[in-house]
Amino acid sequence: MVENLGSFRRDRYCGEVSLEDVGREVRVCGWVHRVRNHGGVIFIDLRDREGVVQVVVEEREDPEVYEKAEKVRPEWVLCVRGEVRKRPPGTENPKIKTGYVEIKAKEIKVLNTSDTPPFPVEEEVNVSEETRLKYRYIDLRRESMKENLLFRHRFCRITRRFFEEEGFVEIETPFLTRSTPEGARDFIVPSRLHPGKFYALPQSPQLFKQILMVAGFDKYFQIVRCFRDEDLRADRQPEFTQIDFEMSFVGEEEVMDVAERLVAKLFKELLGVELQTPFERVTYDEAVSKYGTDKPDRRFGLEICELTDLFKESEFKVFRTAVDSGGVVKAVNLKGKNVSRKEIDELTEFVRGLGGKGLAWIKVEPGKLTSPITKFLSDSEIEGILRRTGAEEGDLILFSAGPVNEVHRILGALRNHLGEKYNLADRSRWDVFWVVDFPLMEWDEEEGRFVSLHHPFTAPKEGDEEKLKEALNVKDLEERKRIVHSVRARAYDLIINGEEVGGGSIRIHRRDLQEVVFKLLSISEEEAREKFGFLLEALRFGAPPHGGFAFGLDRMVALMRGLDSIRDVIAFPKTQKGICMLTSAPGEVTPEQLREVHIKVAGET
Ligand code: AMO
Ligand code: AMP
Repeated sequence: MVENLGSFRRDRYCGEVSLEDVGREVRVCGWVHRVRNHGGVIFIDLRDREGVVQVVVEEREDPEVYEKAEKVRPEWVLCVRGEVRKRPPGTENPKIKTGYVEIKAKEIKVLNTSDTPPFPVEEEVNVSEETRLKYRYIDLRRESMKENLLFRHRFCRITRRFFEEEGFVEIETPFLTRSTPEGARDFIVPSRLHPGKFYALPQSPQLFKQILMVAGFDKYFQIVRCFRDEDLRADRQPEFTQIDFEMSFVGEEEVMDVAERLVAKLFKELLGVELQTPFERVTYDEAVSKYGTDKPDRRFGLEICELTDLFKESEFKVFRTAVDSGGVVKAVNLKGKNVSRKEIDELTEFVRGLGGKGLAWIKVEPGKLTSPITKFLSDSEIEGILRRTGAEEGDLILFSAGPVNEVHRILGALRNHLGEKYNLADRSRWDVFWVVDFPLMEWDEEEGRFVSLHHPFTAPKEGDEEKLKEALNVKDLEERKRIVHSVRARAYDLIINGEEVGGGSIRIHRRDLQEVVFKLLSISEEEAREKFGFLLEALRFGAPPHGGFAFGLDRMVALMRGLDSIRDVIAFPKTQKGICMLTSAPGEVTPEQLREVHIKVAGET
């Protein structure tokens, strides 16, 4: 039954057969998408990368071909030779490219059969994502998945052409390397030749691209895999792809300009969407105080209101305690949703889940306020709340009180939660903007030290360099925090619809300043030498001023395709637990392999 391809060669894709081919003989190859046997006439939808074409076999005219066609089943592999003809009036399918034509088969060869697939190759499949990942080759035959990958391909092609036209040079950097400092855990690879030593897979090419600047290759780019061993989510994979670039002799504006023009080009060419450039710039302080996060979704309002000063003398203990201990009281006003008591309880649980102590609320109802807290509040406090939040009948005001970072974190997350729950975002809108003026460092309570908001090679604003040196000489920790927190970074993140799609900065290119920063980050000289000695060394040999940026390619593609998970734009992604369902990686290795790399697994017998 199965035949060889022999000398048969296709002359076009199934999806390309068109009205222009009417009357011509064509040869196509593909998979059986669907078979309909109407007794005497069999229709086979044949599918390949470019689409589906209808093949017709008539018993009366081609009894031999018909006999073969009677046997074919979904996902069998066929080649077909036949004449293209117009479909009879009334049987056209305007929904697909080939919907006006069909191929009247003169010859069919079965190149391979197929077991019944674990799920049908259709848009709506009722199987778990794990099954889809296990049989990824079936999953990728589905129209939307195929389109995702083809879209990604076009995305990369436009990106490469863009950088080429802008005079960037594509240079590869190593995967087997030392730890790079993006703040996640490293994947490590044991060395066979050097017992007890390990390579780390790069979290990004950060250090190498800086060194390429020192080497004189200004304007570098790469579409590159990065590896980070972190807890996975819908927008995070252990290996993911960046569009990475770096430039010399530039400031923030030039780097941001390149990133903007690339994004605008991608949106125009792939989606036909004209984005207004330059993109809006929002300061970190504004983003965090209005939306509680440095990557806000601004497609809905629900801005955070500052109320702290209203409660300086308050009788309400929860608010008063927060204010007295240097914290804040802030609120969001969920407008006109007539939220039920049960829903408010759920929101309170949501906030508790984030570590919040509670969620005070006021519901504005016809002629009255319902609330567990108004009885503790004075008339002027209530009046102040209603005025500042612009409260009207039907609104629900939700409060958070406590240390400022915690309140922002809670209201930021609550805001996103409400946005999703009540579908507040205007989905017709692309909200593309920069967040700038980040603090260079923040105090990490747990670690008891300053940590970089980006990475330790990010330069401070030019006017702020002296402050860092000053901070080093200040012994009092609170005073030191005050100074360090006032230092802004030359960093910029690009946000689209509430997702961080990229980030970058101007780097420190002088060794003295880099050392001050390491000191403030409590990275000892020894640790700095051990971890980034090669970079520090390079900074001694004529490092030019430089800066760059990296896009999360998977996130950009998922966002532009309107998908929630980056797994849908990666051919072979891992599950939330980091497993490759197709290959069952991570897997075991033989004792011999372990011996060769000098590894003994703890607990192994
Ligand atoms: P950063 O760490 O911000 O910067 O990474 C850049 C972008 O990569 C994406 N991203 C991820 N995507 C999927 N899965 C992950 N686990 C993941 N982690 C990050 C995000 C992020 O904005 N070297 C610097 C860039 C620079 O300064 O030039 C860097 O890697 O969209
Ligand atoms: P309590 O006095 O603890 O019963 O709290 C009174 C009201 O304030 C309840 O509705 C709590 O959910 C709310 N609440 C408690 N702590 C906080 C907080 N830190 N921020 C906002 N609301 C709170």
